Amino acid sequence: MESEPVKDTAGRDASLTPVKDAKEIVYSPMIFGHFLEHFDTQVYGGIFDPGSPLSDEDGFRKDVIAALREIKTPIVRWPGGCFVSDYHWKYGVGPKREPMWNKAWAVEEPNTFGTDEYVKWCRKVGCKPYICTNAGTGNAEEMSDWVEYCNLSVGKWGRIRIANGFASPHEVLYWSVGNENWGRHEIGAKTVDEWGPLVRESAKMMRGTDRRIRLFAAALPDEKWTLPLLKHAGYLLDYVSVHGYYVWGGGDNPYLKCMMRTTAPEADIMRTIGVLEKAGFGGGKIAIAFDEWNLRGWYHPGLGNFRRDATMDYEARRKNDIASTYTMADALFSACFLNTCLRHSDVVKMANFSPAVNTRGAIFVHRKGIVKRTSYHVFWMYTHLLEPKTIQVKTECGNLTDGKTNVPVLDAVLTVSDDGKRHVLAVVNKHPSQEIALDVSSFLMAATPDALRATVLAGDSPDAYNDIGNENRVVPKQVSLPVSNGKVKLPPHSLSCIRLE
Ligand code: AHR
Repeated sequence: MESEPVKDTAGRDASLTPVKDAKEIVYSPMIFGHFLEHFDTQVYGGIFDPGSPLSDEDGFRKDVIAALREIKTPIVRWPGGCFVSDYHWKYGVGPKREPMWNKAWAVEEPNTFGTDEYVKWCRKVGCKPYICTNAGTGNAEEMSDWVEYCNLSVGKWGRIRIANGFASPHEVLYWSVGNENWGRHEIGAKTVDEWGPLVRESAKMMRGTDRRIRLFAAALPDEKWTLPLLKHAGYLLDYVSVHGYYVWGGGDNPYLKCMMRTTAPEADIMRTIGVLEKAGFGGGKIAIAFDEWNLRGWYHPGLGNFRRDATMDYEARRKNDIASTYTMADALFSACFLNTCLRHSDVVKMANFSPAVNTRGAIFVHRKGIVKRTSYHVFWMYTHLLEPKTIQVKTECGNLTDGKTNVPVLDAVLTVSDDGKRHVLAVVNKHPSQEIALDVSSFLMAATPDALRATVLAGDSPDAYNDIGNENRVVPKQVSLPVSNGKVKLPPHSLSCIRLE
């Protein structure tokens, strides 16, 4: 039997209405975090470039630091990713640094950027450090030694065993046991039966070193992996770490295909919530850290293929940095992702855009400067324009389709100030070519204003992107949105932050 073609109903009018007895929730600004991995040019030639006229006395690119400060980056997870699965942190500290071979990415790691440089860089960015440990080839002792080095040892000889030579402790309070250890691509991957006990024993030693730390463990939105993990180690965990990438390949993925993926993170979050609840850790007892996410999976053919005849295609990694890839699709997917986290802010307490710079990052770093990709501006809008609490609302709208799948054409989140007086609506219109009229009259005062103040990110086409020499093709614009019969018109392919006065 032939299936019915999916109907595009996107063009119909939409409305936003209050939900009875909706709770206001203070969301965690940590959802606006980032991730940085020793992969390709993210660290070396990205944030760290000693000798560049654009770097400071520590070799850190000043323009990158300024850009990350500008979006109030709250936290950066480091050093991997797959990289960390055979990284030994002790090679990356102290005056004498030895290069080592990283087996995950099959490259030499010079170790000139290690823990001390990372913590120093975080201080300059104004963000919190979050270290992901090696649970691949590492062990509980190596992980807890890292905590000891960062948080307990001070001065030339250290307060205890491991001297770090610094006048004050690094104070790293966020620590993950492992990265994606469920996956065959990972060095030192673990079986379900191995994982829970390893996390438990590592967590005991790490907490035994510093009881203040917040602990994460590599998890999946899947019962088979995560229930046993929580059975063994849940009582020691603060977060489960889950990852999501939603389109793959080295070339462009068409705008509409990307929009069809905007509801997938919701499904991942709901599945993870289901597992947490089943294990007795629901309601935020253990939070979700979506500590790697991006619309686009990184392009690195060869990762995880250790067969004799497999080749590592290093050149292909450069395809991640083709400027035209990063269009309004990236911005709008990112806004929908963050909206999803905001809607689940009682449980999703951290998210880390993957990565911070280069590869698929929000900032492209080149020899002479940086380009802020479209997604960068979403972070700017959310960290500057939203109010600190979310309140549930009902969005009625049509569906956008690519002929096979369909998704709601709008994605909206309402935020409210602490005193309840100011409301800011963040709303995405995914339609590539049509304005959508949104009825917001339920949130306007009796004397309806003629226009609402808004900041809109749309670019001049769904495929618009920023590039060297054309840095400001896609930037947020302040506009006044006319109100007619309680409705505002949302431009096609746009994110709008609208002040509902
Ligand atoms: O593709 C990037 C890699 O994706 C990260 O290293 C890893 O954590 C994830 O599988």
